[in-house]
This record gives sequence, structure tokens and C-alpha cells, in this order.
Amino acid sequence: MSEGERLTELAKRRGFYFPSSSAYGGAAGFWTYGPQGAALKSNIEDAWRDRYVVKEGHQEISAPDVMPEPVFEASGHLDGFDDMIVECGECGATHRADHLVEDNTDIEEAESLPNEEVMDLIAEHGIECPSCHASLADQPVDNFNLMFETNIGPGSSSPGYLRPETAQGIFVEFPQLSEYARNQLPFGVAQIGKAYRNEISPRKSLVRVREFTQAELEHFIDPEEDEPPLAEVEDVVLPLYSAAAQESEDGGQRELTVREAVDEGVVESEWVAYYLGVSREWYERVGVDMDRFRYRQHLAGERAHYASDCWDAESEVDGDWIEITGFAYRGDYDLSKHAEHSGEDYTVFKQYDEPITVERATVDPDMSYLGPEFGGDAGAVADALEALAERNPDAFDDDEVTVEVDGESHTVPVEQTNFSVDEVTENGEHIRPHVVEPSFGVGRIIYTVLAHSYESDEVDGEERTYLDLPPEQAPTTVGVFPLMDKDGMADLATDIAEDLRAAGLSVTYDDSGAIGRRYRRQDEVGTPYCVTVDYESLEDGGAQRASESASGDEPRAGTVTVRERDTTEQKRLPIDGLADRLGRLATGDLTFDDL
Ligand code: GAP
Repeated sequence: MSEGERLTELAKRRGFYFPSSSAYGGAAGFWTYGPQGAALKSNIEDAWRDRYVVKEGHQEISAPDVMPEPVFEASGHLDGFDDMIVECGECGATHRADHLVEDNTDIEEAESLPNEEVMDLIAEHGIECPSCHASLADQPVDNFNLMFETNIGPGSSSPGYLRPETAQGIFVEFPQLSEYARNQLPFGVAQIGKAYRNEISPRKSLVRVREFTQAELEHFIDPEEDEPPLAEVEDVVLPLYSAAAQESEDGGQRELTVREAVDEGVVESEWVAYYLGVSREWYERVGVDMDRFRYRQHLAGERAHYASDCWDAESEVDGDWIEITGFAYRGDYDLSKHAEHSGEDYTVFKQYDEPITVERATVDPDMSYLGPEFGGDAGAVADALEALAERNPDAFDDDEVTVEVDGESHTVPVEQTNFSVDEVTENGEHIRPHVVEPSFGVGRIIYTVLAHSYESDEVDGEERTYLDLPPEQAPTTVGVFPLMDKDGMADLATDIAEDLRAAGLSVTYDDSGAIGRRYRRQDEVGTPYCVTVDYESLEDGGAQRASESASGDEPRAGTVTVRERDTTEQKRLPIDGLADRLGRLATGDLTFDDL
């Protein structure tokens, strides 16, 4: 069984995730998170929020999943958000053409190749349809738009789309969000939410799906002035696989600190470098194995339509590298496009420290001349003169000036333009912020964390499987078991479980089956600690507590066994103070050895 298959089997059996709607045959690319998976997902999202919203001091929003068509006309998704599709002439099955090339040749990033080259490679390598094995040579490779279309309201007059990235919900609202940030750059807006892509070939369970959760941060900066707090992460070591290294024969991955990566120009943007540093620490915190992790720069042909540079965080599972996060420098692409298409103001006013005096060239064209001379074009000629004065005042040095309107040249005597250059005092200027975007795929991070935490060893002569999840991420923090359901042990265990829940811990209570089997069940879902109530617990005073249904304010007699998942080591601890100790173990303030 491959690592991925083993994981999918465990995920289904233990309630992490499973294919959706299987009672009706299912729909590829849609997965339901079960109780363990939903808890793990929410813990990972909380850890993301803690790092990228709370610690960075950004704002978080929640925008709709459906957005009207003009949004995606402006963003470029309607025209450019395509994958390469090839259809089998024999059975009609559709496949992602670049993936077929990657799976059947040594080429790693076929997405960056033109369609015709992919078609040639399919023919050259005799690639067959994975469904019916007919040859795919000579089948056209076309573009397929990945957005799910819908109608907003009855009828089809108002098309809408399920957002293919949460980011657009932030960009569109920039004018409003900028006000909330008091128009002060830099500021960041984050969002954790669903994104939808009608993938041609969903595969590898959570890795390529049609509905998934993204955690995205759009950090709006003044490209001229704002600098990231690089010193905070400058010593973090980044495993970097640059575009240049990918393209050279002997190039490979390099380990550089954030500072070295910036100084050597390997990572061009300091902002991107900053987030690579922050994120490397965050991946480690949530349980990604740093020996199976790298940052890979996009090749030129691979970059999304909006990105001028992009690095992916990639994790290795089953020998394949999976993109888990994209770090893109989006420049002013999105805000410019939304300004252009909506006519709204997508800039911020940048106040100067001191007002400045500048020479400003202006025109005030004589419309009583332009009207008769240019008829219906007169207004456009006046606008063109105004723009030219701003852009190139020297054009007004001669007796006549020429402007173009809709491809036609119009010449105007300069004296009819009332051209003048005046000194004006300015307090600031309107600038269009640039955007730095770390974009995390939550499902792929969950898949990675589960794959990387999957361990097996031998306990009491039997093979054991366990997930060594960081306690902060584990779906359940403590399993509470009565050794047997008699003599008051169950009452005391129930009582303890309630106290631990009241203290904010995630607790599961299990009284079914042999104690060894109960430990194994918790090991397999990564529960870091188990508490067992036994006869000794009753003998040393616990029974009295259970029967009194103590208020919880008084010191508690009695002890229990606490077992650590990874080592299976057990310690006897007093019930009194148990919640506090387990809580501190879960946050890492205490180690099991310290107990
Ligand atoms: N806003 C930028 C953006 O959407 P992306 O690289 O297309 O960039 C970001 O997506 C992340 O979303 C990826 O790194 C990946 O983790 C996740 N993702 C993208 N497509 C996915 C899919 N079909 N299934 C699961 N996760 C996906």
C-alpha cells in the first residue's frame, strides 16, 4: 500500500475524511471531513489565524462564495483561469493533458509548456487514455476554464461564479477595507473560506479537489516605502529550489537563511522572503516534517496571470512534491484591474510628511474652438490634451500640438489649449498599493500533516500505528478511560472527563473494549495523552470524590495513570491539578519528563 492509500484508509476508518455523497455514487473531488478531520481542520485554521492575523496585527473578513461575473472579467479569471484538457477520441473521458505528460515522462512542470508542445509530447511518448488505453496522439489539447458557473436569481441574465480563490472577495472590497485601516499602508486582510475549481482530474484524495478551503492573506504595501520586519526571521533557514536551479543541469536545492536569500538575490522580494521565514516556522508548529519540505520558485511559464514572482511551499508525500502554499508578489495587478473595470477608486491617499511645491502643467482648452473644429470628438480631444500636458509638457513647446483619439490624429494650435505651468502646493498623492499574498490550501496541509505524522512501532509484541501530531493540533487532547465499568470507576472517570472539558480541553470518554484497544484507538487519531482510572484511583481517595460529586473547588484526593502517546510511558498523577498539567502539556509549557 502506498503512503497515500494507507492514509486514505486510516482517514476513512477513523473519521478524518471520506468521499462525499457516496450513497448516490458520489461526485469526484468532494470530501467530507468527519469528526476527527473537522477538529484537526479547525485546529490548523486556529493556528493559522493566530500567526497570520493576530500576531501580524491584520484584519480578517468573510466574503461570499458566489460573486457576479464582472468581478471575474476584471480579475482575468474568465479569460485566463484555464487548465489543459485532452479528450479521448475512443471513450470520451477527459484528462488533464499536462499531468499525463508529467506522469509518463521525466518532465516535472508541463503546465508551463504551450498547448501545442504538450500535444506533441503526448504523441511522441505514445501516451494512452488512462481509462480505456486508446492512443491520445493527435487529440487536440484545449483550454478548459476551471470556474463553476451559476445564475444569480431566476433566469440567466445575471451569471455568477463560485470564487476560484478567496482573494477576490478581499480585492473587490479594497476601498471599504482601506477605510477600516484608516487608509494607512501597510495593512493586511485575511480570509479563511471555501474556493471552488472544476478540476479536470481530481486526484489523491484531499490534494486535488473541486471544493477546498483556502487561508489567504492579502498584504497591501507601499512598494516605494514599506519594508517587512525582516530581522524577526532573518536567521530562519529556508530550503530553496530556485527557478534558475531547476533550469540548470547541476542545480539543486540550497539551504539559505532568509537574510542570505535576500542578499544573494535568490528571493527577490523582501516581503516574499519575510513570509517564507514566518511560514517555515508555522509549518513546523503544525506538524509538517522539515526533512520533507522545500520552497520551489515558479518557472516563468508556470506563473498565474497576476503574479510577477511566486514561490510554492511544497511537501513530499509518496515521493511526489505537493504544492501546499503559494507565495505570490501580485504587484498592483488586481487593484488596477478592479479600478479599470468598476470605475471606483482603488488607491490610497499618501500624505507627505511636509507639503511640497511642484510645477504642474495644465490645459484649459477653448471649447468654442474645439467644438466646431472636431465636432463629436471635441470632448475626447480636450481629455487627451489634459493627459498629454500631465505626461509630457514639452509637447506644448511648439505652435501646434497633436493628440490621438481612437487612432486618429488631431492637431490643435497651442494657444487654443491655454497651456500653462504653475507652482502648486501638494499635501500628498494617490498611490496604488502592491499586494504580497501567502495563500494556503488547508486540505493539502491536513493531508501533509497526517502523512508526515503517521508512525508505527511495536508495543507489547504487537505492531502499533499512531499519529505523532503536535498536541496543539490533535483533534482530541485527552482520552479518559475507566479501567472497568464497575465499583465506581466509571463515575470517577466521567467526573474527571467533565472537569477536563470544563477546563477547555478536548476530551473523549471511552469505556468500551480492553484497555489496550482503547489506547490503540486514541493512538491512531493522534490523542497525545490518555488518563486511566483504576482500582488504585478509588483506593487512594478518588471514590469519595466521585460519590460526593465534588464542586471542584476543593483539593481532590486520588491519583490516575497518565499515558503519553509517542513513548507509551505512564505516570501516576494526582487528580488534583490534572487539568492544569494536561493543559500545559498540550501548549508545550510542560514536558512529560517534567511531571
Ligand atoms: N489566491 C492565490 C491562489 O489561489 P493557488 O496557488 O492557485 O493560488 C493556493 O492556490 C493554494 O490553494 C495552493 O497552494 C493549494 O494548497 C490550494 N489549492 C489550489 N487548488 C487546489 C485544489 N484543486 N485542491 C486542493 N487544494 C488546492
